[in-house]
Amino acid sequence: MQDAYGRNIEYLRISLTDKCNLRCRYCMPKDGIRVLSHEEILTSGEIVRIASVMHDMGVRKVRLTGGEPLVRRGITDFVRELAEIPDISIAMTSNGVMLGEFAEELKEAGLSSVNVSLDTLNEETFIKLTGRDELKSVLKGIDSAMDAGLKVKLNCVPIKGINDDEIPELTRYAGEHGIPLRFIELMPIGCGVSYKGVPTDELLKRLKKEYGEAKAVSLDKVMNGDVSGPVVYYEFEAYKGMIGFISPITHNFCDGCNRARLTAEGFLKLCLYHSRGIDLKMAVRRGITDNELAKLISEAILNKPKSHSFGQEGDGDHRKMVQIGG
Ligand code: 5AD
Ligand code: SF4
Repeated sequence: MQDAYGRNIEYLRISLTDKCNLRCRYCMPKDGIRVLSHEEILTSGEIVRIASVMHDMGVRKVRLTGGEPLVRRGITDFVRELAEIPDISIAMTSNGVMLGEFAEELKEAGLSSVNVSLDTLNEETFIKLTGRDELKSVLKGIDSAMDAGLKVKLNCVPIKGINDDEIPELTRYAGEHGIPLRFIELMPIGCGVSYKGVPTDELLKRLKKEYGEAKAVSLDKVMNGDVSGPVVYYEFEAYKGMIGFISPITHNFCDGCNRARLTAEGFLKLCLYHSRGIDLKMAVRRGITDNELAKLISEAILNKPKSHSFGQEGDGDHRKMVQIGG
């Protein structure tokens, strides 16, 4: 499935819920969001149908996001149903709080990997940042995911004055556990506009001071046949493991963008930034055939924007990150 710029769309991010059991300040408004009602969100069956049609059109990998995907009821059964689509790789992005409870059954149901958000290792900072006292459960969740045999990666969004002094601790933790850690530049979306992220080049400079010379790792080696994303990994002279950088702000990667997003309410979003997309829920509930659905989706994909325009005026989305799923 190609868009108007020849980009091959093979990766679908599916937001399963807009609910979350944390309140990360850069993601979720303090007083929460209006949570969608049961009727407003896609049923498991509807999601599997859309994923299956998109798989026939060339999607090879799906990532389940939220809010927090693990707060959706029946998550394991949903993964099992999704895993019936042949040759589809199923990943998840989670805040880790409930992974201790779910890791093993998710692996058994067909989940292959999980990216866990870990912005801090300090209990006080965790409470300040997420509004909840759950760091211990997150760390336990990471251990459980490793024990269950899931591929695990860590995501960290460094924010000036909040957790940017913890880069050494976070990299050390990841190195000791043998988990790739990826730093993500804060995007000015929703509540993110009120905070200041750390540019990748600044992080690289700091890490070189700590761990010596850096060498970019070839994508083939990293991905091992998996569908790739915008991350660039580095190895350092004196560091065991890989550290990744996702730099939407300082290194625009839209040229290689291979993804689309399905929100919990069934909106197919073509770019994290732009509001452009189509309402698939209406279409599906109107009783459209698979062929018609495929046609609708490929028309929408042809309308995928060329690039995001963070920091500029444009048709930026009003949705909060917790409603998009990253
Ligand atoms: N910029 C960058 N990353 C963000 N996330 C949430 N909001 C933002 C933002 N404004 C991250 C979370 C999580 C993933 C789903 O998206 O930290 O790792
Ligand atoms: Fe935090 Fe993720 Fe929940 Fe947003 S969705 S509040 S980033 S845990």
